[in-house]
Amino acid sequence: MRSLYLFLLSAFCSAQKIPRLKFTLKDSPVLSFENGEKSTVLFHDAGSEQLYVGGRGALRILTYKESEVNQTQVPLLADEKAEKNCRSKPGAVQAECDNYIRVIQRLNSSSIIVCGTNAGSPKCWFLSNDTRLQQDKRGQALAISGESLAPASPSQPAAAIAVEGSLYSALSQDRSTIQRSYGPRKLLRTEDKWLAKAEFVTAALVPGKESHLDEIYFFYNEVNKTAGLDEEPVKAQLGRVCKVDEGGKSLLVDFWTTFLQARLVCGSPTHPQRFNQLHDAVVLGEGRKGQGMLYGIFASAWGTTAVCAYSMDKVTRAFKTSKLKGYTNILPAHRPGTCVPYNSPNAPSKAVLSIIKDYPEIETVIYPEGQRPLYVLQTNDTYTKVVADRVLDASNTSRSVLYLGTDKGKIHKVLQTGGQTVIIAELSPFRRDAPISGMALDAFTGHLYVATEFEVTRLPLADCGQYRETCWKCVLAKDPYCGWDPDGKKCSAISGESNDTASNFLQNLDPEAEDVCEGAAEQVAPEALKKVSVDPTSYIYLPCPLRSHHAIYTWVKDGSKQYPCAMDGHSCTLRFGENAPMDQGLFKCTATEDGYLEEITAYKLTLNAACIPPLSVTVAAGALFLVVTILLL
Ligand SMILES: *[C@@H]1O[C@H](CO)[C@@H](O)[C@H](O)[C@H]1NC(C)=O
Ligand SMILES: *[C@@H]1O[C@H](CO)[C@@H](O)[C@H](O)[C@H]1NC(C)=O
Ligand SMILES: *[C@@H]1O[C@H](CO)[C@@H](O)[C@H](O)[C@H]1NC(C)=O
Ligand SMILES: *[C@@H]1O[C@H](CO)[C@@H](O)[C@H](O)[C@H]1NC(C)=O
Ligand SMILES: *[C@@H]1O[C@H](CO)[C@@H](O)[C@H](O)[C@H]1NC(C)=O
Ligand SMILES: *[C@@H]1O[C@H](CO)[C@@H](O)[C@H](O)[C@H]1NC(C)=O
Ligand SMILES: *[C@@H]1O[C@H](CO)[C@@H](O)[C@H](O)[C@H]1NC(C)=O
Repeated sequence: MRSLYLFLLSAFCSAQKIPRLKFTLKDSPVLSFENGEKSTVLFHDAGSEQLYVGGRGALRILTYKESEVNQTQVPLLADEKAEKNCRSKPGAVQAECDNYIRVIQRLNSSSIIVCGTNAGSPKCWFLSNDTRLQQDKRGQALAISGESLAPASPSQPAAAIAVEGSLYSALSQDRSTIQRSYGPRKLLRTEDKWLAKAEFVTAALVPGKESHLDEIYFFYNEVNKTAGLDEEPVKAQLGRVCKVDEGGKSLLVDFWTTFLQARLVCGSPTHPQRFNQLHDAVVLGEGRKGQGMLYGIFASAWGTTAVCAYSMDKVTRAFKTSKLKGYTNILPAHRPGTCVPYNSPNAPSKAVLSIIKDYPEIETVIYPEGQRPLYVLQTNDTYTKVVADRVLDASNTSRSVLYLGTDKGKIHKVLQTGGQTVIIAELSPFRRDAPISGMALDAFTGHLYVATEFEVTRLPLADCGQYRETCWKCVLAKDPYCGWDPDGKKCSAISGESNDTASNFLQNLDPEAEDVCEGAAEQVAPEALKKVSVDPTSYIYLPCPLRSHHAIYTWVKDGSKQYPCAMDGHSCTLRFGENAPMDQGLFKCTATEDGYLEEITAYKLTLNAACIPPLSVTVAAGALFLVVTILLL
């Protein structure tokens, strides 16, 4: 008999909140940290084979080659004096009296800045030629004070980003500040009254149409510990400054003259359910491949997480058009916050600066696309980190793919495009279930770097071999990196850059099901029918292994009678019993998904006529699937 290979026109389509496939990745090059690193910060240059991992007392430089990884450690210890000081402070947390690396950023082609907590008095070092500590004239490692560059403790929230040789640091110390803290441009900071108690999450460069329009975004939570019960104690905020800001001439001389902030909401204006606390955010820049998007992971007061998507067009438009909170006069034509070079005739006047000084928050609240979180991503899993990629699919349409790290060390790979969100797969690369603490995506080499405090690894973005041998298995995966190559007869990576065969690749990423695999069916290896002969009084299970968790599985006897099955996460198992009396006949288990019907397994059951208990059950072929029988003698 041969496998059924049917395309049903009555395709059903539902948004499933669980990953469709689950993969344990055994071949990824995992590196373990013996004792765990309390905090891990990752840095990776797109296109390189190097990953910088900051931990406790050391910087690790990992070099990858295919599935191999080598590590070089650069010890960076806390100063003796600082450590002694730290330990003698009343109420000191002893574990914090060490050097935890918190900042790793590239300043220019030959220099990387590395800052650590240095037992409470932060310090920064420079890596020359990417591997060696820069030295001073006496041959000592060159170091500068990191007081305004990096946080003083491993647990303090902070964010940093380097742009054109300047470091921007956001620190949540006694006073929260956003500063340009190092580099050739004038060092600037926020006025104290601009930021309440801000806990910084991350920062991002948002390139403008021209270089002088580049902006730097900071994401943070404002925490109000004295808020009443009916008030929100946490709100997510987005602050931005212009790269070209050089401070004011007579007003705001040492401060940002372009700082504006906005409230970011993950929820709807009408629905009360809110995810207030921002955990992580990523900006997918506007480019050749599509519109800019902002993705954020937010947590509710109960700790459940959701993902919200924002159009960067809307965000930037809000900053360009909104009224300023509390400012009732008409805004000047040269709006506060506009990016203009320092000596331009359009430089903000004193009047404009005095508006920014007192009213740096815009009135428009930024709501997500669809006015709600991405429904499919409100799962039982708690998300900790997000990165995103943009992929040109087989028809050269731009698709977003999110990688969401969970608190159990898994990664959810998610297709997010138009109105559709699909959890393509859950990837398990690690041995220990610790929260994902860092991710870096390299679209050039097609790799994702992932770390927990115990392990770090890198994974291929296009892992098309996982979808295996048939066209429809490849197509149903809805993985925009992969398509069915009808000539090579395999599931292969689509190279978005080339214009060769990609357009011949078969893919079906949209919910409107269409039988793209028609005529490609012949590769299916007909499943051998398993013949089983059993004693009527014996107890027998028929397993039907699950692969896709989005399919519907059914057992049918002799092509008509349906039998219920017990789902256990791995199998839709037919157990004979009161509801399913044992009978002889042909039992088939099928899976239906997106209009495709697949026969997974089939058994021909015959009952022994004589009441002699059989010594064994004969199972012909299909060695993969075990038939478990317990003989009741
Ligand atoms: C790791 O080091 C070994 C020995 O020095 C070398 O042969 C190998 O190529 C290196 N692998 C990588 C990924 O750099
Ligand atoms: C790179 O940055 C470092 C540190 O700021 C600086 O000393 C060095 O001169 C810069 N090099 C170049 C080529 O700009
Ligand atoms: C970095 O590389 C350049 C060119 O290869 C070399 O001249 C310079 O001495 C190197 N610097 C250090 C600190 O190794
Ligand atoms: C915090 O909440 C209290 C009580 O409503 C309010 O008076 C105070 O202004 C709030 N603080 C901030 C920074 O919003
Ligand atoms: C989520 O958890 C609830 C309660 O523990 C459980 O009933 C439900 O099946 C879970 N959902 C998923 C998709 O695992
Ligand atoms: C795309 O096709 C054009 C015309 O055939 C060719 O000149 C170009 O090199 C191709 N580009 C790539 C990346 O293959
Ligand atoms: C794919 O789309 C991009 C951007 O829309 C365009 O620049 C490129 O030429 C397209 N490639 C092909 C093969 O159509």
